[in-house]
This record gives sequence, structure tokens and C-alpha cells, in this order.
Amino acid sequence: MDLYEYQAKELFVRHGVPTTEGDVCTTPAEAEAVASKVGGPVVVKAQVKTGGRGKAGGVKLADNPQDAREKADAILGMDIKGHTVHRVLVAEASDIAEEYYVSFLLDRTNRSFLAMASIEGGVDIEEVAATKPEALAKIRVDALEGVTPALARDIADAAHFPEPIRADVADILVQLWRTLVDEGATLVEVNPLVQTPDGRVLALDGKVTLDENAAFRHPHHEAFIDVEGTDPIELRAGELNLNYVKLDGSVGIIGNGAGLVMSTLDVVSYAGEEFGGVEPANFLDIGGGASAEVMANGLDIVLNDPDVHAVFVNVFGGITACDAVANGIVNAMTMLEDKGEPVTKPIVCRIDGNNAEEGRRILNEAEHDLIELVETMDDAARRVAELAASRSAGK
Ligand SMILES: Nc1ncnc2c1ncn2[C@@H]1O[C@H](COP(=O)(O)OP(=O)(O)OP(=O)(O)O)[C@@H](O)[C@H]1O
Ligand SMILES: [Mg+2]
Repeated sequence: MDLYEYQAKELFVRHGVPTTEGDVCTTPAEAEAVASKVGGPVVVKAQVKTGGRGKAGGVKLADNPQDAREKADAILGMDIKGHTVHRVLVAEASDIAEEYYVSFLLDRTNRSFLAMASIEGGVDIEEVAATKPEALAKIRVDALEGVTPALARDIADAAHFPEPIRADVADILVQLWRTLVDEGATLVEVNPLVQTPDGRVLALDGKVTLDENAAFRHPHHEAFIDVEGTDPIELRAGELNLNYVKLDGSVGIIGNGAGLVMSTLDVVSYAGEEFGGVEPANFLDIGGGASAEVMANGLDIVLNDPDVHAVFVNVFGGITACDAVANGIVNAMTMLEDKGEPVTKPIVCRIDGNNAEEGRRILNEAEHDLIELVETMDDAARRVAELAASRSAGK
């Protein structure tokens, strides 16, 4: 989960990383109040989960509270690369002598972490990396040893931070590393880290990505969940612990195993070309040992998506045999009916693998009008695309 800048800075404060004082606001009046509290000039910053806010006009200086109110009024509601601004951060404006870049990230390929630092920060770091790779220091961080004061010093040396602030930068690197470890993050980035004219070092921007697999260790992170910025179906799926991603098409997809679901998306997309560009409406992996209840939850989520016109259940029986899955589907239909949500959309099933024959027998014997069994994955994809196309044409 990516955090907003103001949330990232909350974590920075918790771990001692120096930053500017401020608060998040949803209205111009609040922005004025925060600016009065902070006193002196402030920056008003759009809170959206994308970079380039500065260049898009989403970061503005304000001299006084009245000005902060006007700047907030201009920025709230703005569209930055497809993200609507619902909140602004009003923070003490800082005098800037130099802008730097520092980050820690999980380096999956090398099974370690990576520290990156540059004294050419503030700008697109990707551009620095591409055009002047020597200006971006990259240092491996061993997951077990972590960032010791000595390693932090090495990173600051490698990036050639000015000598007078190297010790402060090294301290901040250790604090940022603690933020990553203690909060269960996969990325902690500061761009810009600045030096003020009087030689202080501050984090003026912050980007943190939390590892959702570690969420159970961090109950306080629940407050970071972005209710208005997340698709409502994804939110519900999250509450049901389902691995669901909303997509743009009209064919609901349910499968067991992420790889199978990924290839199901591909075959549906391919088969859909013949029917005027029918596409998958979602990714949903109900996992290897899916019970009837999980299948019911999955069908409930997918069938309640108004964009879905037909559903493709693609199951390869493994640890959970096909007869159990088939019973799950039949029970799910009954459970939904009992809930007062009878199924009205066609469901195409392809069932293969462990105990497939028995699974097919169960589905056939259920004689449900809306369930259709198709032998192969390609044929099933074609059939579900056809059904989705005819039903959307009928609307
Ligand atoms: N508190 C502050 N005081 C003074 N200037 C600031 C402050 N915060 C940000 N700035 C200035 O605004 C610039 C952009 O801010 P920031 O890095 O937070 O946004 P961004 O989305 O990363 O923008 P961009 O991608 O355009 O750099 C900074 O590089 C800095 O020059
Ligand atoms: Mg930035």
C-alpha cells in the first residue's frame, strides 16, 4: 500500500526523521487555520499518490494564512495525472540551499535491500539514473545486518554529501531504515531531502510503501487505508480477505491460483476480440484450498459488480479436489439465494485436475439454468465472452 506524503511524514516523525511542521486539510478554511498555527510562510501541497505534483502546479508557496486559503482553494479539486486532489498538506515553508535524494527499497532480485542516494535530488531521480548514473550511489543493505551507523556513513560518503552535514545525513539514514523495518515497508524515499541555508537537514517530501503482507503486525496502519481513493468493490473484497483487483471489462473472473487467473485474463481478452473487444472485469484468485464459503464470497463480490455481464469460473483442482469446488459453487448459489440475492448472470465453468469428473457430475446434476460447463479453457473463454457481449448488447 502506497501512502500519501502526509502519512509518510507521520511515520517519519514517529522515527525521529526531521521534517517541517504541518497538517493535512480538506478545506481552504482548515488550510488557513493550519497556516496561522504554523506561522510564517507555508507550502500548500496536493496529496495525491503520484509524482510530479510540483510541475503540475500542485505545490504552492503561501505568504500568510489568507494566501494559504486561496492556494488551497486552487489546489483542492485539481486533477493531477488522473488523481483528484481531496486533501492538501499545509507545512512550514523551508529555505532551501540544496536538494538531495535518499531511499531504501526492497531489492527482490538480489534478495536484499538497496540504499540509493544522490546530491542531485529534487528532480526526477529516474532521469539522474539514466543520464548521470555516477551521481546516484547504490549500496546493498543486508536484511539481517541492516543500516548500522557505519554503513549509513558509507552511503553518505558514496553519494558525496557535503562534509559538514554528512553526520546528520547518516543519522537520518539510520532513522529512515528504522522506519522501513519497524513499519514493515518495502520502500522509503525522500526527494527532496534538503539542506537549509543555516545547515539543517530536513525531509521535505516522503514516499512510503507498506508491505500489506505485514499488515497484521501493524494494526495502527489500518487508519492509512484510503477509503475514498479505493474502488468500493476492492474495499469489500479486502474485508473478505479476497485477492481481488478491479479491471475495466465485463467478464467476471474467478480462479484458484494467481498464475491460472492471470492466464484466464489473457484468454478472455483474446477470445473477446471476436466479440467487439470484451475484456475481463476483475482479477480474483480464491487460492488453492478454497472452501464453499470462499467461493460464495468470491461469486458474491463478482456478481454484485454492475459492470459484470457474465462470469467465468476457471478451476484446476489440486489440493482442493474438483468435487469440493463444485459443491462450493452449488452451495454458493444456494447461499446467495438464501441471502435474497439470487444469481441472474450466466456462469461458465471450466473444471479440470484432481477429481474433475466427479466435479462435473455434481455441477451437471445441480441443473442450474445459469451454470454452463465447458470442457476446455479456450472454449470456455470464448463462450463467456459471447455471453457477456450479447448481454451488454441487450441492455
Ligand atoms: N516545505 C517546503 N518548503 C519549501 N519548499 C518546498 C517544501 N516542500 C516542497 N518544496 C519544494 O517543492 C518541490 C516539489 O515538492 P515535492 O518534492 O514534495 O513534490 P513532488 O510531487 O515530488 O514534485 P516534483 O515531482 O515536481 O518534484 C520540492 O522539490 C521543493 O523545491
Ligand atoms: Mg518530490
